[in-house]
Amino acid sequence: PTNKIIIAIDGFSSSGKSTMARALAAAIGYRYIDSGAMYRAVTLWAIRNGMVSDNGTIDTDRLVADLPKINIDFAAPDTPGGKQATLLNGENVETEIRHMAVSNAVSPVATIPQVRSRLVALQQQMGKEKGIVMDGRDIGTTVFPDAEMKVFVGASAQTRAQRRFLELEEKGSAVTYEEVLNNVVQRDHIDQTRTESPLRQADDAIVLDNSTMSVEQQDKWLLDLYHKIIEKQ
Ligand code: CDP
Ligand code: CDP
Repeated sequence: PTNKIIIAIDGFSSSGKSTMARALAAAIGYRYIDSGAMYRAVTLWAIRNGMVSDNGTIDTDRLVADLPKINIDFAAPDTPGGKQATLLNGENVETEIRHMAVSNAVSPVATIPQVRSRLVALQQQMGKEKGIVMDGRDIGTTVFPDAEMKVFVGASAQTRAQRRFLELEEKGSAVTYEEVLNNVVQRDHIDQTRTESPLRQADDAIVLDNSTMSVEQQDKWLLDLYHKIIEKQ
């Protein structure tokens, strides 16, 4: 059998990273980790404990003091390729972390260096045995700079907002396209300009613009790339 590798999928919000990362992991029998879910779970903790004010300011000191009390883990999916559940101190928060209130506060929370170092350490622990596909913003640059396969995904903000909007609409959310677009653009900006491991393409990442691709096409593109890389290992 071939040696297991680490696969890092980074890129912009709602570009399809988790969809393709999950499909690849299922196809090749790897573990999939949604690193964004971990930042969202910490943000949910902050919201629940009154650390996010109405104007969006985060009570950083209190949140940092709480970090040792926050444990984040994942429950295995019910079916191969199915969705795993994000656990916040054992509670399944998978649905709640996708709400707009969390989307609106998560990028400011993700600028806090102590939050990042805690989550990066957890992520590195999860990848110790390799055989992992992880998606996020800084996986190829900071979490696993030596990953054997790195992909950086993007599409126009409008395309990405439309994708996320459709997804939320299907789930019965009352959110508007404008709200989603606004959130996507805001998060892109905060994620790219923060000091601590900003969103950027690793020098050795392969870039994918999937603006005109279907989910099936992008899944195939990723699996083909995996086979090419594994052949050279
Ligand atoms: O909504 P989407 O799936 O695009 O975002 P996500 O992957 O759930 O990530 C939510 C937010 O967490 C991002 O906008 C970043 O602010 C932060 N994040 C990060 O800073 N580093 C990561 N490795 C993953 C997410
Ligand atoms: O993880 P990330 O935020 O990058 O995006 P996602 O949650 O995987 O994808 C957002 C939405 O875009 C999902 O509803 C996908 O079905 C859809 N989509 C896609 O992933 N890829 C395409 N080429 C077209 C749509």
